[in-house]
Amino acid sequence: MWKNVESAPADAILGLTEAFKKDPRFAKVNLGVGVYKDEEGHTPILASVKAAEKRLIDEENTKSYLPITGNEAYGREVQKLIFGAPCDRAVTAHTPGGTGALRVAAEMLRTFSSKTFWVSKPTWANHTNIFKAAGLTVKEYPYYNPASKNLDSEGFLSALEQIPANDCVLLHACCHNPSGVDLSADQWKQVAQIAAKNGWSALVDFAYQGFGESLEADRIGVEAFLESGIDFFIASSFSKNFGLYRERTGALTAVAASPADAETAASHLKATARVIYSNPPAHGGMIVTTVLQDSKLSSRWKNELNGMRDRIAQARAALAEGLTAHGVPMDCSFITRQKGMFSFSGLTKEQVAFLREEKAIYIVDSGRINVAGLTPGNLGYVCDAVAEAMNR
Ligand code: LMR
Repeated sequence: MWKNVESAPADAILGLTEAFKKDPRFAKVNLGVGVYKDEEGHTPILASVKAAEKRLIDEENTKSYLPITGNEAYGREVQKLIFGAPCDRAVTAHTPGGTGALRVAAEMLRTFSSKTFWVSKPTWANHTNIFKAAGLTVKEYPYYNPASKNLDSEGFLSALEQIPANDCVLLHACCHNPSGVDLSADQWKQVAQIAAKNGWSALVDFAYQGFGESLEADRIGVEAFLESGIDFFIASSFSKNFGLYRERTGALTAVAASPADAETAASHLKATARVIYSNPPAHGGMIVTTVLQDSKLSSRWKNELNGMRDRIAQARAALAEGLTAHGVPMDCSFITRQKGMFSFSGLTKEQVAFLREEKAIYIVDSGRINVAGLTPGNLGYVCDAVAEAMNR
């Protein structure tokens, strides 16, 4: 079967981790995959998560299947998180990670809406792959302006005006991956108004809730869409804010025009999930539900989440300061303006290759640096190497 088949290219992000693990050099740094690390370079299990797991070990009494869309309690807690309160015209399915949510949404959009999907230029490397694999045609709308290192607001809004009815537009709720450039509340309102006027739907990728400003402030995009009354989807991930990466814990929420429409959407969510993965893996969802239903655990979790966000903000400031001190030929203030885990550094593909080959520093080809991977132990080395790459 495989004799005349070319190997598939390595994954743009997870492939880097594979290469990093094989790299025998001692002073190596992985700033590729978006995984939070503490000051010692570890990705910790949050204390709130550990406490919930202990409780589950004692109290969980079956490993029988979950319902196709997961436990109702999980769906309710997810809605409280993403909307502030449960919503009667929304239905939520527990999915295997945010990626599972995106794939289910893509399948439903292909069946019930248009086959054309619009993503920002640039976007998360896996978005395009997921939507293409679901048989959708993927097109790009302008988003990031490399010259200003900011939103290309004119290009963005005028492109959205041209998108035909029934097409779907992917938007990043907060912490745009990879650029770190987010929309303001006014811009979100404008986007939602254009969607309502032109009749296209949206899939809002909410993978970083709590990593931008706060759990509440990061909802502005979702709130703008909710107010507009249009049909849209929200893909949530608890990889980052609960640190549940390998537990593959996500959710897909379909918001419909009415509670009756939401019931119809729920039936199709079930039918779609059933033929892809049947029903979701339980453990991560049970952790999230246990934490969110318990006021003590949930306030402990919120403190831990705030702590991760604060550490990333400090790492951003230290990176900007360190690069300036090492004489990089650019104004580094954009690094502290960007939101989320990543800094879209502006490094070229050649500079990225230099860093990987000569310095054993791994970052994504687009120049995206995982700021959450910087530690007091590697910051000086990274700043020195990036300055050398830029000044060559
Ligand atoms: C990332 O963007 O690095 C993360 O979302 C991890 C992944 O699966 O790519």
